[in-house]
Amino acid sequence: MSKIYWDKIRFLVANVCNYRCRFCHNEGQSKNIPQQIMSFEQLKILLDYIKDQDISELCFSGGEPFLNKEVIKMIQYADENTTCDVSCATNLSLITDVQIKDLSATRVKFNIQFPFATMTDFKNSTGSGNYIKILDTIKKVQDAGICIGLNTVIQSPDTSKLTQVIDFAIANNLPLKLLPQIGLNGSEKFKDDVFPLLQKRAIDRIDKGTGAIRYTLVEDGHRITVLYIDSPCFTKDIDRCRKYGEVRVLPNMSLQSCILKDKELSLALEKGKDYVLNQFCELWRGFNHC
Ligand SMILES: C[S@@+](CC[C@H](N)C(=O)[O-])C[C@H]1O[C@@H](n2cnc3c(N)ncnc32)[C@H](O)[C@@H]1O
Ligand code: SF4
Repeated sequence: MSKIYWDKIRFLVANVCNYRCRFCHNEGQSKNIPQQIMSFEQLKILLDYIKDQDISELCFSGGEPFLNKEVIKMIQYADENTTCDVSCATNLSLITDVQIKDLSATRVKFNIQFPFATMTDFKNSTGSGNYIKILDTIKKVQDAGICIGLNTVIQSPDTSKLTQVIDFAIANNLPLKLLPQIGLNGSEKFKDDVFPLLQKRAIDRIDKGTGAIRYTLVEDGHRITVLYIDSPCFTKDIDRCRKYGEVRVLPNMSLQSCILKDKELSLALEKGKDYVLNQFCELWRGFNHC
C-alpha cells in the first residue's frame, strides 16, 4: 500500500456559507462559483481508501459544513471507520438539537468561528450571526459532552477586543485558537502585541515547532489553552508547512495543497484505491515550494 505522507485532511463539504465574514479566505475556495456540496457517497469511497493511512486528523469544514445535509452522516462514518482525531470547523449557527444529540455519540471536536465577544461586534463581523443564540448553542454542545473550542481570526492590532475574547474563553472553559488574518497586510506582526498580552497571563508557553505557540492560562479556577497560529504563509516557510502536512479535499473531489492555490488535481475515485493514494503522493511530492 502506498503511503500518502499528508498528516491531516480537511474535507470542504460545502463551498458556501450563511455568514459574510469580511476576512474569510473560504479555505482557498473561490467565492464566485456556484454552490458545490460534497456527496456522502464520494466521501465514503475516499475514506475507505485512506482509512489505514497514518493520519492524525480529519477535519470537516467549508464554507459552512452544516449547509451540507449529509454532514452528520459523514462525521459518523469517519468516527466509526477511523481512529484519528475527527474535528469540525463550523460557525455553529445552523446545528439543531437533534444533530447535537447525534454527534454526542461520536468523538468529533468542534472548532467554532468566534470573532468577537460582544453582540454588536459579533453581528458586524459575521453579517448575520446571532451572538446570544450562539452562546446558547455553545452551552448545549458543552452539556452534550462534545469538545468545543473557539477560533478567533485577529483582524487588527487592537488587543482590547481580543482581551474580551480571552476573558470569555476563560470564563467558559473554552480552548482558544488565535489566527492572525491571512491575506491582511501587517498581520504577521500582530504577535508583537499579542504575545506579551498572553505571556502576562500564562503559566506555560510551548512552541510546537509547527508555527503554533501554545499558552496555558489559569484564572479563577479555570484552565484553558490558547494556541497562536503563526501561519507559515506569512514567511512562505514551506518546510514548516510540510511538517504541518494538511491537504484539502474540495466538494467536487479535487485536491488542494494550500489555501493560496487553486484546485490542483481531481481525484479519480473510479480508478480505485491504489490510483487515488498515488494521487495524494503525487501532490505531496510537488508540495515543495510556496
Ligand atoms: C473558512 S472557515 C470554514 C468553516 C466554518 N464556516 C468556520 O468559520 O469555522 C474555517 C476557519 O478558517 C478561519 N479563517 C477564515 N478566514 C481566515 C483568514 N483570512 N485568516 C485566518 N483564518 C481564517 C475561520 O476563522 C475558521 O476558523
Ligand atoms: S463562517 Fe466560516 S466560511 Fe463562513 S464566512 Fe465566516 S469564516 Fe468564512
